[in-house]
Amino acid sequence: MKIGFIGLGNMAKAIIGGMLKQSMVTPEEIVGSAKTEATMEKLRKEFGIRTMESNRLAVAEADVLILAVKPVFFSEVIEEIKEEITENKLIISIAAGKTMEWIETEFGKRVKLIRCMPNTPALVGEGCTAMCGNSLVKKEDEDFCLKLMGSFGKAIMIPERLMDAAGAVSGSSPAYVFMFIEAMADGAVAAGMPRKQAYEFAAQAVLGSAKMVLETGIHPGELKDMVCSPGGTTIEGVRVLEEKGMRSAVMEALCACVEKSKKL
Ligand SMILES: NC(=O)c1ccc[n+]([C@@H]2O[C@H](COP(=O)([O-])OP(=O)(O)OC[C@H]3O[C@@H](n4cnc5c(N)ncnc54)[C@H](OP(=O)(O)O)[C@@H]3O)[C@@H](O)[C@H]2O)c1
Repeated sequence: MKIGFIGLGNMAKAIIGGMLKQSMVTPEEIVGSAKTEATMEKLRKEFGIRTMESNRLAVAEADVLILAVKPVFFSEVIEEIKEEITENKLIISIAAGKTMEWIETEFGKRVKLIRCMPNTPALVGEGCTAMCGNSLVKKEDEDFCLKLMGSFGKAIMIPERLMDAAGAVSGSSPAYVFMFIEAMADGAVAAGMPRKQAYEFAAQAVLGSAKMVLETGIHPGELKDMVCSPGGTTIEGVRVLEEKGMRSAVMEALCACVEKSKKL
């Protein structure tokens, strides 16, 4: 099975790293192309994969093709490769906002297509990828893609109408979580803690809290209540966060993200 990548940036690296770690394929079975030789050289050195001087050559070799360029470059890349796409090739798109209907229209024909929304924690094996496929996708293609995306975290099938929501709550949300970690660390620094230590405490608290939600199945509100002793320190912080509209700000941010995704 040959896996081809068009685009060898952050997400492609996460996917390649995951596949190789899980021994799903060998480096020789991965072929990729990028815009610049510098990127391709970096990936050859890092993973031992093969790179091609053109996108068309990479596509010609691939059984499964992963489109991993930024959404803005999708049209030009599809225009370049569409003649090489045969009906047995599985195409996986990881672009935010690009619907399956839009992608098929760009190809000008029906293609076997799975749309995925991964996120950058994939780089440390803790990604979360939402997936949906069109009617040409067979059960074995779906299983293969679930295994592929599951090699660097969780992979979950959802209906396409939920992809913009998945993009916000999963694809983009690491940025919001990083902002939260940074802000908490700033608070600890203001209280005298050295910065490095503040990031370590803040990040570990987020990691542990997320694990509690996932592993206990207890409602997040109940977990919050468990931390808030009557008349204690934590509830004072909760009061300030409510006063400053933290929950509303987060909800509005996700809604804005969904709206933008619909317009891409
Ligand atoms: N980053 C995220 O958190 C995230 C989350 C979910 C989905 N996504 C999606 O993943 C995709 C890739 O994002 P990314 O963050 O990995 O982007 P990235 O790091 O900027 O990588 C993009 C890659 O595309 C290559 N490229 C650009 N034009 C090309 C062309 N004409 N032909 C071949 N390769 C070309 C670039 O090559 P050079 O390196 O040589 O310039 C680069 O390797 C996007 O569609 C994005 O919507 C990203």
